Amino acid sequence: MRKALVAGNWKMNGRADANGELVAQVLAGLDAQIDTDSVDVMVFPPSIYISQVVSLSGGRLGVGAQNLCEFAEGAFTGELSAGMLVDAGCSAVLIGHSERRSLFGDTDTRVAAKVEAALAADLIPVLCLGESLEQRDSGEALNVVAEQLRLATENLTVEQIARVVFAYEPVWAIGTGRTATPEQAQEVHAHLRGQLQQIDSDIAAKARILYGGSCNPANAAELFAQADIDGGLIGGASLKANDFVAICQAAG
Ligand code: G3H
Repeated sequence: MRKALVAGNWKMNGRADANGELVAQVLAGLDAQIDTDSVDVMVFPPSIYISQVVSLSGGRLGVGAQNLCEFAEGAFTGELSAGMLVDAGCSAVLIGHSERRSLFGDTDTRVAAKVEAALAADLIPVLCLGESLEQRDSGEALNVVAEQLRLATENLTVEQIARVVFAYEPVWAIGTGRTATPEQAQEVHAHLRGQLQQIDSDIAAKARILYGGSCNPANAAELFAQADIDGGLIGGASLKANDFVAICQAAG
């Protein structure tokens, strides 16, 4: 039995005051509404606010970063290493989000290097995978995500792959209000789990595969009820405390 995980990706949103209110409301939800025995809750604020959110959450929320540099240290102006994220209190890091892939040059090779860097620092990589609308329309969705998975994990040991969380995020569903149907999402999740099965059956059984893409309180329960969907990676709705708490409840 896999424990659900709901992760809020704040993207480049939030300021110090608003963060304080949002975290306080999510913590209130943890107290009153969210079954923390059945769902883990994490937030991924902009890096500059990680320490603030770690401090505000008092260890009750997992906190992660939205990106990291694949190198450990050196002349990489503007970058943050895995070790620095650990120092700031992170336990996880998003890697390969489609916005990083499409806007900031995160190739499959760089994604793989970032996964290795995260694992070396004992950060949980949340590896994001997903097809474009064009790829879906041409029937390539399953092949695209399987190839992204293969390229991101081919240099890892079985023990390392066991520490990865996966997130299926169809690019056409991100921030568009157009959610994948539960059947569409389940098909891809099952395919990804099948790919993991070829690596190791225990990993396949235990791997958490999150769905992301216009997930909201109205559609979360049906998505999370699918056999291979283990929670969500939530963008826009994670900025609204009531919505985020409701989505966490739906996963519990
Ligand atoms: O990381 C989160 C995803 O990009 C989903 O974003 O919920 O705003 O569609 P969204």
